[in-house]
Amino acid sequence: MGVQISPSILSADFAHLAEECERVAGAADWLHVDVMDNHFVPNLTLGLPVVERLVGAVRTPIDCHLMIEDPDRWAPGFAEAGAGSVTFHVEAATAPIKLARDIRAAGARAGMALRPATPLEGYADLLPELDMLLVMTVEPGFGGQRFLDVVVPKIRRARELVKGRDLDLWIQVDGGVSAETIEICADAGADVFVAGSAVYGAADPAAAVRSLAAQAQA
Ligand code: DX5
Ligand code: ZN
Repeated sequence: MGVQISPSILSADFAHLAEECERVAGAADWLHVDVMDNHFVPNLTLGLPVVERLVGAVRTPIDCHLMIEDPDRWAPGFAEAGAGSVTFHVEAATAPIKLARDIRAAGARAGMALRPATPLEGYADLLPELDMLLVMTVEPGFGGQRFLDVVVPKIRRARELVKGRDLDLWIQVDGGVSAETIEICADAGADVFVAGSAVYGAADPAAAVRSLAAQAQA
């Protein structure tokens, strides 16, 4: 796979969710859906019933980012609901290997996310169980935050591990990804880019997706 863009609907108009999703259809590879529970992060968004309905209402595959406690209990349900990719936070998971296997068994790609201060070291042996590693480039919880460039070396180390072990693993970045920062992430080795405000804050979200993809490919 080459470069992929996953617009975050957190910055979209929730009153017209399906229409907002359709605005990037054809341009976006995924739709990034941020699920927050006000425990793992200090914010509350949407949950399984909304994701279930979105799966049936939009053409683009759903990329669920679960910022919730107890993903061991909840994450497989998002896969069963038809999300194409389900990402849990390792800081919240009790049994990440079992959880990744459960997500895959339920038919989705399994992703694991690291908060900015969570080191990659210690999780290297777990990577073959995963389809995607999400390296957070802001503290999870809110859209529109500033990109944390201290995380860039972690993206680089993740790419080196993937290369060194010849893994089939996508590296996603999420938070503050924009025209100003996407090239830094691509250069460090990311290949799946989440962008919320940079896409939905633009007058033409589909054009913003295409332009980000072109920048990341360059
Ligand atoms: C933050 C979310 C992100 C957020 C990104 O916790 O995980 O997906 O929507 O928004 P931007 O691209 O505006 O930083
Ligand atoms: Zn996210």
